[in-house]
Amino acid sequence: MFKNRLKYLFLLAAFVPFGCGSLCVAVAQVAVADDPRPEGGVYLIGMGPGAPDLLTIKARNILKKADRVYCFDFLEHEVARFVGSDALTVASPLLRGKHHMSDLGGLEGEKRKRALKSIAESERFVRHVQKLVAQGKTVAIAAAGDPTIFCPWSWVMGELGGSNFSVVPGLSSFNAANAALEQSITTKGGAVLISSGQHLGTADENGRLAMTLVFFTHRTKIDQLIERLLDRYRPDTPLAIVAEASYAGEQVIHSTLGKITKMLETRQLPKLYLLYVGDALQKRPDD
Ligand SMILES: C[S@@+](CC[C@H](N)C(=O)[O-])C[C@H]1O[C@@H](n2cnc3c(N)ncnc32)[C@H](O)[C@@H]1O
Repeated sequence: MFKNRLKYLFLLAAFVPFGCGSLCVAVAQVAVADDPRPEGGVYLIGMGPGAPDLLTIKARNILKKADRVYCFDFLEHEVARFVGSDALTVASPLLRGKHHMSDLGGLEGEKRKRALKSIAESERFVRHVQKLVAQGKTVAIAAAGDPTIFCPWSWVMGELGGSNFSVVPGLSSFNAANAALEQSITTKGGAVLISSGQHLGTADENGRLAMTLVFFTHRTKIDQLIERLLDRYRPDTPLAIVAEASYAGEQVIHSTLGKITKMLETRQLPKLYLLYVGDALQKRPDD
């Protein structure tokens, strides 16, 4: 499709009088560069952290022109802002990738059954998408935040990746939460560890936490995580929670490892939040 348009534009340039040929070529190049029409294939698209104006122009253009767009139910409302209902499909929760790469050997009973169903469903989905691409269609898979950070669709990069596949970056909730904290996340040359709770970092030689730990909490119970962190770091270690980053209800809480559990007894956190822990956090709690 793209090649055909180029051919047309070159023919146009070849038939105009020599004097205005260069102008026509320039106009033709602008027309191609401005045309956001995707060229077929599969796009794994980052939808940004939540606020609609934090979606990239590239992502929006692909969503608008795609023949078919898939997303999980929790993102339907956000994706539907840019995609007609005839093009949008809410994907089966079995595709969430939980069991896709799992070692089935360790699973039994209901868990094993669900894992097998999940694998069968993902194979069916891959075949379906490949068929659409073979028909010259453009398929978009819309993922929350950035698709390279704790993304339930990450498995499609292995299964559908190739010449007709692109990952379109999105602003992660990590970016939006950093902005809400209003500080440089790499202050004093510090390191950042992004974790879902498996990795807890290490204290420096003075027992301090020089690096900043950033926890995505979809697989974590915060009280258990705080307990594990207190086994390793001092109770006065600064901590921040950024909830619903970029949404109207965005909240930032500053506290310490030792005090947060008590604070949360009287304050319920929304579903989406990131936990920051480390001595580089600049705002301290009001004691
Ligand atoms: C499965 S991960 C997806 C992360 C996503 N790929 C990203 O780049 O933001 C879901 C977790 O991301 C975090 N999260 C997503 N959106 C958020 C938001 N707007 N504010 C705070 N945390 C958010 C929460 O910790 C949530 O449990």
